[in-house]
Amino acid sequence: MRIAVIPGDGIGKEVTEAAMLILENLDLPFEYVWLEAGDEAEKKYGKPLPDETLEEVKRCKAVLFGAAGETAADVIVKLRQELETYANVRPAKSFEGVKSIHKNVDMVIVRENTECLYKGIEFEVDGVAEAVRIISRKASERIVRFAFELAKREKRKRVTALHKANVMRKTCGLFKRVFYEVAREYERIEANDYYIDAACMYIAMDPWRFDVIVTTNMFGDIVSDLAAGIVGGLGLAPSANIGDEYAIFEPVHGAAFDIAGKGIANPTAMILTASMMLRHLGFEEEAKKVEKAVEKVLAEGKTTPDLGGNLKTMEMAEEILKAIE
Ligand code: NAI
Ligand code: MG
Repeated sequence: MRIAVIPGDGIGKEVTEAAMLILENLDLPFEYVWLEAGDEAEKKYGKPLPDETLEEVKRCKAVLFGAAGETAADVIVKLRQELETYANVRPAKSFEGVKSIHKNVDMVIVRENTECLYKGIEFEVDGVAEAVRIISRKASERIVRFAFELAKREKRKRVTALHKANVMRKTCGLFKRVFYEVAREYERIEANDYYIDAACMYIAMDPWRFDVIVTTNMFGDIVSDLAAGIVGGLGLAPSANIGDEYAIFEPVHGAAFDIAGKGIANPTAMILTASMMLRHLGFEEEAKKVEKAVEKVLAEGKTTPDLGGNLKTMEMAEEILKAIE
């Protein structure tokens, strides 16, 4: 099974090294194909997403992606669109031993990944800039159904749609309408909705009311960082981009240039991302092993500085590896 590995820029490279330490020590039938993309690739090849990378990626079963820097829109947003990975799955879960604003949080954000304001249709004429927000019935139906199927599979009780249909009557209106149409097919799962602004307050003050969240691209981007923030930060937040044919796995965080090169990035998000990849590819047992090891190491406080510990990125990864064995 061919897996594309794209470390990218900044801490993307550091956390990828950490995740690969774990993967390469598990007995997996993977062949890793190392590829370049990001700010550094742009300097080298004149393109942040070189043609060769895109071609190779399409020959792989899954992509493990670290982070890109300033070229993120041309790399990861483009990859998601090219590979039609329409569902961005971002769990926000509390861990024992991690200092955080809230405890016992367990929600999954399902973000539409192909349209909305991230389509990149923007114009600027005579001092007026304009962006086009595309919301289609087809993509909305697909993402809402994905969210309900995920809820069913993970035995979750509720799916909540986030939108701003009172102001964006056409775009969010369509999304909300489609949400309740699809919800009718899932009688045993509760369906409700909130305005995105109120939902942000609820995530901050009462996150336990959320189970599965489904929302459009830009709102999903924002609320997933918010949700990561209440359970311990971006250093812990994994994500998966799932399509019918391809899947891309990447931490929620970016290149974090403020801490890059120091070897202190938290590898947890990327290691949990690798675990999501294992589960997606059918290696459930290995995925669980990795998660259990991460939980153990976090509970023991063996962490990088962002969580109050004093370990380096690779030291924390070594601890996780030890906990697996
Ligand atoms: P960021 O996610 O890189 O960092 C935000 C904050 O969280 C920083 O203070 C950083 O130090 C901290 N942080 C993130 N990951 C961490 C980890 N694993 N361990 C410890 N602390 C961590 O977002 P920012 O600073 O807005 O962007 C930096 C660069 O990354 C920009 O060039 C941006 O375009 C790019 N970016 C790329 C993304 C991607 O490739 N998917 C996503 C977000 C940003
Ligand atoms: Mg983001």
